Amino acid sequence: MTMLPDTATLQAIPLAVEQCDVTVVGGAGHVGIPLVLALAEAGFRVNVNDTNRASIDILRAGCLPFIECGAEVVLKQALLGRRLAFTRSPEGISKGGPVIITIGTPIDEFLNPVRKVVQDCIDGILPYLADGQLVVLRSTVFPGTTDWLASYLQSRGRDLLVAFCPERIVQGSGLKELRELPQIVSGTTPEAERSVAELFGRIVPEVVVLSPIEAEFAKLFTNSYRYIEFAVTNEFYLIAKSAGVDYQRVLKAMKHDYPRLNALPRPGFAAGPCLVKDTMQLDAFARNQFALGHAALLINEGLVLHVVDDLKRRYDLAKSTVGLLGMAFKAESDDTRASLSYKFKKVLSVQTRAVLTTDPFVTTDPELRPLDEVIANSDLLIHCAPHAAYRDADFRGKPVFDLWGHLQGNNVIR
Ligand SMILES: NC(=O)c1ccc[n+]([C@@H]2O[C@H](COP(=O)([O-])OP(=O)(O)OC[C@H]3O[C@@H](n4cnc5c(N)ncnc54)[C@H](O)[C@@H]3O)[C@@H](O)[C@H]2O)c1
Repeated sequence: MTMLPDTATLQAIPLAVEQCDVTVVGGAGHVGIPLVLALAEAGFRVNVNDTNRASIDILRAGCLPFIECGAEVVLKQALLGRRLAFTRSPEGISKGGPVIITIGTPIDEFLNPVRKVVQDCIDGILPYLADGQLVVLRSTVFPGTTDWLASYLQSRGRDLLVAFCPERIVQGSGLKELRELPQIVSGTTPEAERSVAELFGRIVPEVVVLSPIEAEFAKLFTNSYRYIEFAVTNEFYLIAKSAGVDYQRVLKAMKHDYPRLNALPRPGFAAGPCLVKDTMQLDAFARNQFALGHAALLINEGLVLHVVDDLKRRYDLAKSTVGLLGMAFKAESDDTRASLSYKFKKVLSVQTRAVLTTDPFVTTDPELRPLDEVIANSDLLIHCAPHAAYRDADFRGKPVFDLWGHLQGNNVIR
């Protein structure tokens, strides 16, 4: 077993920013942290630049602001090995070595990308970058953004190398996947392409080179495809259900020893911070004509309303207290961003006597109650995020709606 140093030991040995080989802007975020740790593991001294003071303080103390599998040991070793420096403003950017940008890239009320966040970030750090430095976009961006950035920098009289390397990790297992998955890299000039391939070649098993716009599409296609996959199985569920057929039985039989259906997922509540947003970025690029993307949105978002209507037909919801099990957007995660559990909460709060919520991982929602209390005080339960902890829970015979097909028993409704 690895003996980990205590917090005081870790804090006593800071690394100076000037000694860093690489800067990660947004380095304390979900994408930033695994990348920072993978770089540190590969021997880089990393400047973790992030405006979120709370997350920086947590990292500096050798802890993680959210769940990231296997990361704590690597973080502590990186701190102890003096491989991490922490900065909170653009002035903290290291002038030497590449600068990798992993900030959030949201969509707006029109479901269009907020391109300005990238420009604002660049404008902020530009005075502190040295000509010749490599700037890598790792956030998911609207197609054309990388080439736009290169011309924008040129128009400002700056001579920087510009690259785009999309992050395609599954959230929570980023560090593991960075060690295992190929990395798509792209650069706006041969020198940028060479530099970024060399940089990522040190932390991933294989690099695959594309042009910037190809790489931007590769990322959006990857996430949109995944979102559509969930929609396919969710629509099959709805069709089977309309005929009074248990889709889980059909799905199990269809997939049994039939490799061509390996990719067909179980039905479930598909959302989270990336899939919807990236499908909509692609839709914005496609002039709102991304038909499959729209269909997926209708199905995946509409599923919550179908479930509520279904429960309304079976139970007197107005007189019921409904308990929501799992508020994270997916299993074994503490991330509630764009979680459909909160859509359930919103819709049900005006149609029921009360809504109670619980989650074993989420730490950011003061309204959460312990599981036992939610079970005891609810008339009806909905299995929203399929955390493993719910598989063997005692629901005291209360009806539990389980779309995922994870729970067994006479009280389980599908
Ligand atoms: N979460 C995922 O699993 C995942 C996977 C692949 C790609 N992506 C993409 O990666 C990007 C980041 O997503 P995330 O989930 O890590 O977001 P996040 O909100 O967890 O992390 C972003 C971090 O950037 C920091 N930040 C924002 N603006 C900054 C600035 N100007 N200077 C310094 N720090 C700044 C924030 O404080 C935050 O810590 C997005 O484009 C997302 O679509 C995310």
